[in-house]
Order: sequence, then structure tokens, then C-alpha cells
Amino acid sequence: MLSQEFINEVKERNDITDVIGGYVSLKRSGRNSKGLCPFHSEKTPSFTVYSDTASFYCFGCQAGGDVIGFIRRIENLDYVEAIKFLANRAGIAIPEEGKNDGLSHMRLRIREQNREAGRFFYRSLYSPAGKKALEYFHSRGLTDETIRRFGLGWSPDGWDLLSRHLEQLGYKRDEILAADLGYSSRKGGVIDRFRNRVMFPIIDLQGNVVAFGGRRFTEDAAGGKYVNTSDTLIYKKTNHLFAMNIAKNCKTRELILCEGYMDVIALHQAGFENAVAALGTAVTPQQARVLHKYADRVVLSQDGDEAGQKSIARSIPIMKEEGLDVRVLQITGAKDPDEFIKKYGPERFKLLLDGCTNDIEYSIMRIASKFDISTDDGRLHYLREVCEYLSSLGTLEREVYAGRIADRLGIEKTAVLSQADASARRRIRAEKEQEFREMAKNTAGIGSKVNPERSANLKASNAEYALISILFRHQDKIPAAAKELPPEQFVTDFGRRIYTQFIELHESGQEVSVSLLTPHFSETEISEIVKIINSDDSVGAGDFNTLIDVIRSAHFTPKPQEAAKLTSDELLKQMSILRKKKS
Ligand code: UTP
Ligand code: MN
Repeated sequence: MLSQEFINEVKERNDITDVIGGYVSLKRSGRNSKGLCPFHSEKTPSFTVYSDTASFYCFGCQAGGDVIGFIRRIENLDYVEAIKFLANRAGIAIPEEGKNDGLSHMRLRIREQNREAGRFFYRSLYSPAGKKALEYFHSRGLTDETIRRFGLGWSPDGWDLLSRHLEQLGYKRDEILAADLGYSSRKGGVIDRFRNRVMFPIIDLQGNVVAFGGRRFTEDAAGGKYVNTSDTLIYKKTNHLFAMNIAKNCKTRELILCEGYMDVIALHQAGFENAVAALGTAVTPQQARVLHKYADRVVLSQDGDEAGQKSIARSIPIMKEEGLDVRVLQITGAKDPDEFIKKYGPERFKLLLDGCTNDIEYSIMRIASKFDISTDDGRLHYLREVCEYLSSLGTLEREVYAGRIADRLGIEKTAVLSQADASARRRIRAEKEQEFREMAKNTAGIGSKVNPERSANLKASNAEYALISILFRHQDKIPAAAKELPPEQFVTDFGRRIYTQFIELHESGQEVSVSLLTPHFSETEISEIVKIINSDDSVGAGDFNTLIDVIRSAHFTPKPQEAAKLTSDELLKQMSILRKKKS
């Protein structure tokens, strides 16, 4: 266990704005800083860092917490690891520990099981029973050398062959489930997650097998095309890139980003060892950060189908935000890079790579392909849409491409530019409105989940929140509040729990902080608390007594039908409150 003093020192030496500033580009606004949330994708900043309360909160996705909570989320670490991470960052020596704590021990067990499973699948592939699977890989053009290099395998056709193997090696049911190598059967046993599939191990940057993808390879097989390991203690799908462990060793600062396992493997076999995959989704900001660590330029090499093009469109802004130079490779005559290489060979693929367009040319081309520019009507629609797109670019880029578009359409450049300006204004307005709507929707949803009594007691719970916010800022007032308003008189259970913690912490001589509240609440609850304490203190400390009155009086205005439903216990409680108030 890490001592409280140690944790405090770690927090003191890691200023929250500094730490977060290393991940998010923050702009000061008053005492707070704002930026684009790293936990969801957005265009206008709703992520705020509050230096006075040492906390952060995103109004878009409701993530919130202290500096440790931030590191936990962004680095996907558990509590203790996050503290150690921050200790290292600040150059503080970590106290020796006697034994591994439970979570890191479990991580270790998961890593070991994955390594065992990888070996098991590889062995099975080359066993007589694995003949069909091996033939499948060969039929897709993979050599044995490639199979070995990627550690590919076959999960045998049975219910629990791997699970039983792991049990023999001493792994417990819980550990197998925690690795997501198996799931519980209705009878309480364990069923293998992967059965009769060709297996692709996913390996992290340190060389640990952290997850698997398993592909169906016979027509009659059950289940989806791919089965993948869900997120575990050591794996978060949205942070990982397949084959990054190999590609990171390439000398060039350029990576090729594909969609699937097979694309990456085929490219590597053909000599393009800088290929990686985001595994079927658009790039996330976390993946973009990893890409940027090893490359300055990323060539998007998605499938030619509509889904692939959509994923390109979503990935481009995320990668540009990260500061990467983005190129788009246009595959024609094949559905994906794997098929292209097989049909036309590596040299042709190299030509594609050399000729790939930058992201702006790509986007403009995509728009042009939708319209018939030889007709007036087509040109008009093209102009409208392409200006909409231009409006999202920087001024310099807008100038350059407006010129090209104007030439192509045979019109004045100023006409294109003014049209683009108009769209920019429209777009910004629409985006703001949209984000605001979503924010309001999400906030309402989360708020009521965390505090289900809130919606029926809006006035009282608003007063509770305001009081909590005031008390957090003026902690010297806690004893007075506790005297005037015992926690029992709080209307909502959630408000009462926060208030009780405030009083207890204060009584024990500690300063109430998000960190000290964290052990007593869930992650969503902490996010909500951060929002409450940072919400505008518009009520002002002067209204302290009014707030207390509002909370108290909420008990005396039950709606008639509710009064009838009160149990005798509740009636007694209300009467005792009433007596206290009178005395
Ligand atoms: P694709 O359907 O393009 O598959 O999905 P693929 O990798 O090219 O495989 P082949 O060539 O048909 O054998 C691209 C990626 O999306 C993810 C996988 O990571 C896959 O590699 N995916 C796809 C899933 O996770 N589940 C699915 O059911 C399908
Ligand atoms: Mn494919």
C-alpha cells in the first residue's frame, strides 16, 4: 500500500494543468483551461481543467476527476499504477513494496495466460487437427515464415480445450475469465472464447501478447466473421494498433494504416514493414498519439468500400489534430491492400504509395466524384459542397485550393472564397448548437443515473449541489453547516453521501479534495461531483442560509399523493425534523 503522505506528495508535485497539458493542448480562460477532450471526439472544446480545485471535467462525455483519475483514464492504468506513473514523472522515488497488489498480480497472470494461449494456438495450427486452418493461411498466400513471425495460430474445435490446458497449468477460473480467453457457461464452467478460428495475436510495444482476434475460416462456422478479445486489465482496443510492435522498428518516419489483420500481414510479407492496423474502426486520438510517436506521416490505406471511405473521413481530422501529415492511398481494382498486393504485386503497391494524394486533394476529389461537373446544375452543387469543405480548412490552405477549384469551374476565386466564408460561419454555429444539445442531453442522463432522486426533487437537489459547491470552496463553513443541517435532512441520497464525506473529512482534520473523495464513490459519481463543485458559484456564499432553508423545507411539501404513500418511519422522520426546526 502506498501511504497517504506519498500520494499527497505525488499530487503536489504534479500540477494538474501541467500534466494534462502534456496530452491536450489547453487554452487558458480565466483561472481554468480548456481544450478538446481526449476521451471523446469533438470539435469545440468542452474539456475543462480547474486549477483551483485540482480537477478536470468534460461537459461532452462527463469524464471527470483529479490528476490521478486523468492518468488512469488516459494511460489505462489502475489507481496504484497511475500514482507510480506520476511519481516517475515528478522524479519521486517509489517506496519499496512487500508484495504485488491484487491488480498488478492479475495483470501478470493475464499476460502469462496470453503467452501460453499464443503458444497453444501456434502448436495446434501445426498439429494434424490444424491442417484445414494451415491450408487456409497458405491459400491466402501466407508463408510459414510469416505465420511464425506473427505468431498466427488455430484455436481447436472444442468447447474448453484451451481453458482446460490453462487450468492444468494452474490458472484459476477467475483468471481465465479476466483474460477473456473464456466466458462462463450457464452451468458455471468455462467456455473458450475462441473455438475453431484462425488466430491473430495482438502484441503490445513491449512484446507481450495482450489480446487475440480470431477469424472464421469455414463457410459453415458459427458466429461472426471475427471474434476479438474484449477490453481487459491489460488491453484497451481503442489504444492499440496491430503490428505496431514490428512497425515501430522501421527507419522511415512513415506508417501505413490499414483496416485489417490480413492487410497488415500481406503488406509485411511483401516488404512493407511499416504497416499497422486500427482493427476495424476509425482512428482514435490515443492511436493517433501512438502513431505520432513513431511517424510524422501516415498513409491511410483503408478498404475501397464505402465503410473504408467513411473511416478515412473520420480519421483525417483526428490525425491532423495530432499534428500528423496525412496521405490517402486510393486503391483501385481491388477491395483492400491484401487483395491488391496479391493481384498486382508489391511494385504496383509501391507506385500507389508514391502517388498518394494529401488529405485535402483526396477530400476534394471525393466530393467532385459525386457530381457531373459538365452540367450547370452539377457545378452548382459541387461548388456548394466543396466550399462547405473548404470552410473547415486553415486560411492558407483555403486560398490555395479555392484557386484550383475556381480554375476548374472557370469562375472567380473570390466567389469561391466568399462562399467558403459563409459556410464557415454557418458550420460553426451549427456545431456549437449540436454540441450544446448533446451536452444537455448527456448531462441530464448521467445526472439522473448517478442521482435518481434528483428529477423528482429538482429544487432541493439544486440547493444541495450549490451548498456542496460552496462548502468545497469555503471549507471553514462546514462545521456551521453540519450544525444547522444534519446530513439526514438532505433530500437526495447522493447529495447526502457527499455531504457526509465532507463533514467526516473535515472533522478528521483533512482538507476535502477530489482525491480524498475518490475511494468513496464510483468513477461516474466522481465525475458528477467534480461537475458539482466546479459549477458556477453564482449563488454566492451569502445565500448559505437560504440554501439550507430550501433543503429543509423540501421535506414539508410532499405532493398529496406522495404524502399518502409515506411509511410510518418516514412520517416519524419528518416529524422529528419539524420539531428540530421549531426548537
Ligand atoms: P474486414 O472485414 O475488412 O476483414 O475487416 P479483413 O481483415 O480484411 O479480413 P479478410 O481479408 O476478409 O480475411 C477489417 C477488420 O475489422 C475488424 C477486424 O479487425 C478486421 O481485421 N473486424 C471485422 C472485426 O473485428 N469483426 C468483424 O466481424 C469484422
Ligand atoms: Mn480483407
